[in-house]
Amino acid sequence: MNSSFFDIRPEKLEDAAIITAILDEAFGLDRMTKTSYRLREGSAQAPNLAFVAELDARVVGTIQFWPVSIGGKAEALLLGPLAVLPAMQGFGAGLRLIEHGVAVAAREGHGLVVLVGDAPYYAKAGFRKLEGNVLMPGPFDPDRLLCHELTPGAAEGLDGMILAPHRMADA
Ligand SMILES: CC(C)(COP(=O)(O)OP(=O)(O)OC[C@H]1O[C@@H](n2cnc3c(N)ncnc32)[C@H](O)[C@@H]1OP(=O)(O)O)[C@@H](O)C(=O)NCCC(=O)NCCS
Repeated sequence: MNSSFFDIRPEKLEDAAIITAILDEAFGLDRMTKTSYRLREGSAQAPNLAFVAELDARVVGTIQFWPVSIGGKAEALLLGPLAVLPAMQGFGAGLRLIEHGVAVAAREGHGLVVLVGDAPYYAKAGFRKLEGNVLMPGPFDPDRLLCHELTPGAAEGLDGMILAPHRMADA
């Protein structure tokens, strides 16, 4: 099996239960304690930027993007969660989901995608370490804070906390 076996399509409302099951299986139930979850609390997914991977019409992978603000000045998309059913991992569904999502984000005019994850994996899809004085609202490993510029220079000179957009409005 290879990545061409997977179909990538937009997430639908009725995918919610299977997506939760995939996230529970891939990450475990303690996933809600992660700093990335703090960034999504009370926020809404970026419209048109959630996709699933299907194999034989069965959902086996999920990717979402969420809007964030960096230092109250720059806008970006937070990639995640990304997960593939354990039995389906290693066949390229994850990379297909990332590449598709990032391509749609670029087409929709977004300039920057950030995430917290394994640098060697996401480097395969064009991500690199986010340099600069950027913080998150909770513990994080700076070597795992990654970015992908969709607009050249969008990751330059960033400074401040990554927060959900409504948290900036509250400030
Ligand atoms: C991470 C995840 C989404 C990747 O999906 P996947 O479909 O298994 O990944 P792919 O098949 O697209 O991977 C393609 C390549 O990346 C490699 N790879 C996978 N995970 C990797 C990692 N953590 N570091 C480096 N390389 C990795 C694979 O070996 C493969 O390499 P190859 O093409 O040279 O053989 C999936 O493993 C998963 O759901 N993991 C648990 C949840 C998770 O950790 N999500 C990411 C949070 S940051």
